[in-house]
Amino acid sequence: MEALDPERISATAQRIRPWLAPTPVWPYFDDPSVQFKLELLQPTGSFKVRGYFAAALALPKSVLARGLLTVSAGNAGIACAYVAHQLGVRCRVIMVEDAPRLKVERVREWGGEAVLWPRRRVFEWMAEEGWRQSPENFLHPHLDLEMMAGHGTCALELMEQMEGLERVVVAVGGGGLVSGLAAALGARRPEIEIVGVQSDGYALWPAAIAAGGRVDLAPHTIADGTVAPYHPAMMDRLESAVDRWLVVPEARLHAAVRELALAARIVAEGSGALPLAALEQLEPGPKTALIVSGGNIDAGLLSSLLEEGNQAPAID
Ligand SMILES: Cc1ncc(COP(=O)(O)O)c(C=O)c1O
Repeated sequence: MEALDPERISATAQRIRPWLAPTPVWPYFDDPSVQFKLELLQPTGSFKVRGYFAAALALPKSVLARGLLTVSAGNAGIACAYVAHQLGVRCRVIMVEDAPRLKVERVREWGGEAVLWPRRRVFEWMAEEGWRQSPENFLHPHLDLEMMAGHGTCALELMEQMEGLERVVVAVGGGGLVSGLAAALGARRPEIEIVGVQSDGYALWPAAIAAGGRVDLAPHTIADGTVAPYHPAMMDRLESAVDRWLVVPEARLHAAVRELALAARIVAEGSGALPLAALEQLEPGPKTALIVSGGNIDAGLLSSLLEEGNQAPAID
């Protein structure tokens, strides 16, 4: 496993600075020890744009001109299309056909070509490294070190924004985000605890760690951004990046999206609400950042989650 050099993350931060403003932190209700890191305020609605700018800007101009290709549950595709648009090159995104409509539309709005395939075909294409046949530059959503370095820039901001930070809670899908955060934090503040969260509707990594290797699960979760396939290289990385895994019941996740929207006025998608959903499992006290990693949620899903909260409690 090639280590992610913290110097590379600092250099990446310089490179992407002209394109992306730092995202704010915001207090968690009345508990001063907990803050939300609002990555959903990125121009594409998720942290992914950090990594795509980082990876695309690392390419020589003549190579970049061939365009960008990625594979995505949604947010990576939006980020790739946005970056390609800003840099004036074309973009193609392989997406699962049941990706949220809003995410497919956003890819197209930024001029990206969305290619929709059944999930099985997408996962097979990834396993066979189907991109090797393609003329464009393939940017891997989690295995690419430059991508992880881009995501790691979020942690550099956090260390400046939250003095005495002790714990970072973050949703995990393919593992690129948490790997970047861990590399950036580990170099300067190794005592910070990194908590990785998944839903019990797709707790791939805790299951893979328990099984000691590959598992395949059918997803049943609104945290669509976290539905990525198993990869042995990420297993090694995640075992060193994540200090503690938490699995959140899907019903709790639904309530967390609702709480964020109604009580904190933060409209997050399922993956972005996982850290808040996990908070009740953590002992209170340590200075904690909850990464609200994305806010691209279909209006229909959001309204049904808000409605769930209006259902009358059962009378017994
Ligand atoms: C909103 C959101 N949060 C978290 C993740 C997980 O990130 P990673 O796949 O890098 O682990 C994703 C991935 O798409 C996402 O879209």
